[in-house]
Amino acid sequence: MTEENKALTRVSISLENTLLDAFDRLITAQGYDNRSEAIRDLIRARLIHEGAEQPEGEQVVVVTLVYDHHARELAAKLIDKQHHHHGLVVSTLHVHLGERHCLEVSVLRGPAKEVRHLGEELLATRGVLHGDIQFAGGEEALSRW
Ligand code: NI
Repeated sequence: MTEENKALTRVSISLENTLLDAFDRLITAQGYDNRSEAIRDLIRARLIHEGAEQPEGEQVVVVTLVYDHHARELAAKLIDKQHHHHGLVVSTLHVHLGERHCLEVSVLRGPAKEVRHLGEELLATRGVLHGDIQFAGGEEALSRW
């Protein structure tokens, strides 16, 4: 389904003035032109979050890792883990932050349960200093909405 043929429904909601004011300040600072777009994004974020909790259905996940490449065998371990799950790893971007530290951004695609597990495994690898797993949703769900 394309954006053009999705029917729109106008809804009316009640909010405390203080809550609405805070929301308006936030979305204005973030550069939204209007509330509707900001609320649509909030709803999509919630749905993607809920989808990420389901074991079934395809998910695309962005995993960010920061690590010290001098840490013993760490880079090799991370590469081994990605090769072991090569069917889930779409692409990896490596940035040398400086003399010691690396930033790695990997896009994983596959069943939610599997991509979450691999992302968590990469983050939990001893020596990884910092990271995050961001669920981007899946084509099927995004098209449906
Ligand atoms: Ni590097």
